[in-house]
Amino acid sequence: MKNILDAMHWRAAVKSYDTSKKLSPEQLDMLLESVRLAPSSAGLQPYIMFVVDKPEIRQKLRAAGYNQAQITDASHFFVFAVPTNLTESLAAHYIDVVAQVRDVPRDTLGGLEAMVTGAITSKPVETRAEWATRQAYLALGVLITAAAVEGIDCSPMEGFDPAQFDEILGLKELNMKSVVMVAAGFRAEDDAYSTLTKVRYPREELIVIV
Ligand SMILES: Cc1cc2nc3c(=O)[nH]c(=O)nc-3n(C[C@H](O)[C@H](O)[C@H](O)COP(=O)(O)O)c2cc1C
Repeated sequence: MKNILDAMHWRAAVKSYDTSKKLSPEQLDMLLESVRLAPSSAGLQPYIMFVVDKPEIRQKLRAAGYNQAQITDASHFFVFAVPTNLTESLAAHYIDVVAQVRDVPRDTLGGLEAMVTGAITSKPVETRAEWATRQAYLALGVLITAAAVEGIDCSPMEGFDPAQFDEILGLKELNMKSVVMVAAGFRAEDDAYSTLTKVRYPREELIVIV
């Protein structure tokens, strides 16, 4: 395990993966658990991360992803998707889970249910997928950081045709749409990108003390 800042310096959006190196079951489990434990607004976790296992599907996704080699060459490949029809039913489901996990009667959770329902219904219907996308990106950030700390390479990617991805993954039927993808595995020795000096703005451009 790396110190967090060492990990952030070490990590890079790797372009070239070593196809012979695979995540161990424990490493995969840790990444999935980091996504599960990511925080989200009102705790609603309005997204699903698909783990794309089938090589033939990854090949099709690569064609729909500007032929980016990371999609097929990394050990694992994930796609985050969000609901296109987000309603208060997600809040009701969340409250069911709270009651079960905390072992409390559901009818004692009326106040919390009103709050989390409001987190959805207060938003115009046409903005809800965008809100869900913001939550998915937060989980993406947790995933990227968790991977880096454990010395696992990870490449977030938005360079793909969402309509084609949705078609290939059958997301429309699930009332979902793809928003961002991630390759995870181990960099190839000749990955030129990860040896480049990291470019970030100086702190005073990004952080303002008022
Ligand atoms: C949301 C997101 C989408 C990205 N999409 C792509 C992509 O489609 N293809 C790619 O090669 N890199 C992609 N990147 C990588 C960024 O270009 C990279 O993170 C940035 O230049 C900083 O470099 P570093 O991550 O190696 O430090 C993406 C990064 C993020 C966070």
